[in-house]
Amino acid sequence: MRKNIAILASGNGTNAEHFVHYFESHPQVSVALILTNRSKAFVLERAQRLGVPAYFLTKEQWAEGSEVNRLLDEYHIDFVVLAGFLARVPDNVLHRYPQRMVNIHPSLLPKFGGKGMYGDRVHEAVLASGETESGITIHYTNEHYDEGAVICQKRCPVLPDDTPETLATRVHALEYATYPQVVEQLIAQL
Ligand code: GAR
Repeated sequence: MRKNIAILASGNGTNAEHFVHYFESHPQVSVALILTNRSKAFVLERAQRLGVPAYFLTKEQWAEGSEVNRLLDEYHIDFVVLAGFLARVPDNVLHRYPQRMVNIHPSLLPKFGGKGMYGDRVHEAVLASGETESGITIHYTNEHYDEGAVICQKRCPVLPDDTPETLATRVHALEYATYPQVVEQLIAQL
């Protein structure tokens, strides 16, 4: 049976694009849907170019959840991937995907996680703290930001002359090399 992934993204969508390419000729898994909570998210332009159905849903729709669930049903979604998604997933969506919804965070959680910690803010905080390593955390999604069970972490160095941009580039490279493969393994176990 083929399995369908939905990607939830709020911004640029480089991880979303890597997922689409990783699975484009995969025998069992497809990226079938992209959902966003930002009408101007660049991920919408990527989705159009890549030929993946994508929808913007309003704040109210994300809070209420029924339209999210309707789209997840319409596209027969088996597994949900958060990739730079900055809104909260409503409980009535979350509870339909136990062990089937994952998030990535650009730090070694529990360090530098929680509400308001996303993207470059994370890298700025890592640099300000004087840490000598950072990395990524892939975890199951639960009711709290960045708190679900950890599936995998990967580390990278923080260099003395790093800026938030250079650190972000190193961390993004780790994400691209890790996240689709981890999701592929999780889906194979379904
Ligand atoms: C990624 O680095 C991801 O780890 C981070 O947002 C970035 C999205 O980049 N997620 C969080 O900070 C979640 N708290 P992208 O839009 O280019 O894929």
